Amino acid sequence: MSMITITMGNQLKLGTGEFTMMKHVLVTGGCGFIGANFIRYLLEEVGDFDGRIVNVDKLTYAGNPKSLADLEASMGDRYRFVRADICDREEMGKIFDDYEIDTVAHFAAESHVDRSIVAPDDFIRTNIFGTYTLLQLARERMDRIGLFHHVSTDEVFGSLGETGLFTEETSYKPNSPYSASKASSDHIVRAYHHTYGLPVTISNCSNNYGPYQFPEKLIPLMIMNAREGKPLPVYGDGKNVRDWLYVRDHCTAIWRVMTRGDRGRTYNIGGRNEMENIRVVEVICDLVDELAGPLEDGRSRRELITYVKDRPGHDRRYAIDCTRMEKEQDWLPEESFETGIRKTIQWYLDNQAWVDDVRSGEYQDWIQAHYG
Ligand code: NAD
Ligand code: DAU
Repeated sequence: MSMITITMGNQLKLGTGEFTMMKHVLVTGGCGFIGANFIRYLLEEVGDFDGRIVNVDKLTYAGNPKSLADLEASMGDRYRFVRADICDREEMGKIFDDYEIDTVAHFAAESHVDRSIVAPDDFIRTNIFGTYTLLQLARERMDRIGLFHHVSTDEVFGSLGETGLFTEETSYKPNSPYSASKASSDHIVRAYHHTYGLPVTISNCSNNYGPYQFPEKLIPLMIMNAREGKPLPVYGDGKNVRDWLYVRDHCTAIWRVMTRGDRGRTYNIGGRNEMENIRVVEVICDLVDELAGPLEDGRSRRELITYVKDRPGHDRRYAIDCTRMEKEQDWLPEESFETGIRKTIQWYLDNQAWVDDVRSGEYQDWIQAHYG
């Protein structure tokens, strides 16, 4: 029998029994990297979750329904995919009602910093207006909605100097259009709790890596380029620091917050695993050399590292203090960077079909054929 939480105002009441409040879970952005991992975690690993998941995704370039295609067949009624835009209030309202949604896990977003610098429009629209649209729909159904969980990022806190960590009390100081749009959405979520009493939780997580990540982000890009013997573009001096967390550990943390977290509260999630970008790339080079065999010309993959022009406004260092998760929620990551990155590289090497599909853009043809 599992522990569940029933919250009253800001009070957390622990009890045993079923997930009575989580029978019909709307996951937004479930065809993206973290959303897809979260859906798999919930349906395949959380034994005492017996609810249904409705995955709503617009299928932008970052959404690949093939990442979960097997679930449509194997999970029957417990998993549904609906292609929709979270900004479309009418269609989303219909989904809330048709599927009697009682819980929202909101992942959908434009998520790539470099794209937000070149073209911020979609970031403002989806991340701010899309989140507002979902909150408003949830608010109109307060009698049924037990939880609105908002998935956010450590980037809302801005950039750190050489020391210090982001806590839940750190002031927001976002620096990119992406992080500013996420900060804005966090504030709106908080306001819907404070003003209307909507039961919300927010998590702010550090950099994730693992299976199904779109290869525009540092780690999958480097794995794929390294495998193929292509240049490995490192921005600036390569000494920017990120705090890396294996994606499954992020999923366990989100589920912990959803089932045990205080409503109206924010939780920082991180791996306590700070690394300079150049070190991350070197580790990838060495592991790809080991797992995929040496390059044909015998060079070490480290020789592919190429320093390139820096990202404008590039945040220098992120580091998360996740004491609240550790102490209040009894949560710890299971993977170290060493174990997680090895698994991740092996996954990309073993799943060449997924990789080729994404790289060639063939998954877009498949989407067109299946969803129009
Ligand atoms: P992703 O870009 O891989 O996936 C985003 C998904 O959202 C895609 O499937 C996309 O099609 C969908 N989407 C975009 N616009 C939509 C819209 N208007 N309507 C419906 N669906 C839409 O992103 P990710 O890396 O999986 O990130 C998921 C969430 O986690 C985001 O909110 C992000 O800010 C947050 N986050 C990411 C990281 C990370 O390291 N990747 C870390 C912390 C927090
Ligand atoms: O911190 C959490 C955030 O992490 C999430 O909110 C974002 O959605 C996610 O994209 C990620 O943002 P970053 O900008 O940190 O991730 P990215 O993988 O784009 O870059 C990681 C670091 O590597 C960053 O310092 C920039 C650098 N980089 C990135 C790319 C793509 C390079 O040096 N070369 C590259 O080619």
